[in-house]
Amino acid sequence: MLLTFPLLDESQLREARRLLHDAPWADGKATAGTQAALAKNNEQLPTDSDHARSLQSLLTGALERSPRFLAAALPCKLYPPQFNRYGGERNAYGPHVDNAIRFAGNVRVRTDLSCTVFLAEPDEYDGGELVVHGAGPAQRVKLPAGHAVLYPGTTVHEVTPVTRGTRLACFFWVQSMVRGNERRTLLLELDDTITGLRNAQGESAATIALTGTYHNLLRMWADT
Ligand code: NI
Repeated sequence: MLLTFPLLDESQLREARRLLHDAPWADGKATAGTQAALAKNNEQLPTDSDHARSLQSLLTGALERSPRFLAAALPCKLYPPQFNRYGGERNAYGPHVDNAIRFAGNVRVRTDLSCTVFLAEPDEYDGGELVVHGAGPAQRVKLPAGHAVLYPGTTVHEVTPVTRGTRLACFFWVQSMVRGNERRTLLLELDDTITGLRNAQGESAATIALTGTYHNLLRMWADT
């Protein structure tokens, strides 16, 4: 499942862009695995900078208050949000897979889901699409600033060359309470159906029973 949703409001986006404007950018290869490093050609914000810390708390706060993110990702652990920039000579990230386990200090995060939050408007740059490969046709994603895309960490994916302007983005991984993509997808569909039913008809014996089914499935599948 690939899901897009608005994440940052206007003032959060303005603050994120202000912090990114004079941030101390560095070579992005520093955090890539061996295979991914060969394909990676962008810049990234060192995590020990004040800019990165302020941006991380801004993004983490927005994620914790996003019902869409919480329902789709069912997060257990987050790898702290990272920030990257594509443009000029450092403008692309070829096809690669993300490492299954990422270390955040001495915390291990299993990368069940990947998330990208776009921080530049689509008309500020050419190219720079996130392309997610799967069983069907590749999905090409380029979203308005402040919008996020969530996709399975199991996929081969890439960022196409930026040929004009600068692409700014945030990316991070989620270890979900529910490990399998199929199960998370089923839970989200059920959650959406219950919400639709409740909005259309109010609370009823059926919505109460289905809410019970949702939580019983989550109890069966979730690890906390
Ligand atoms: Ni990646």
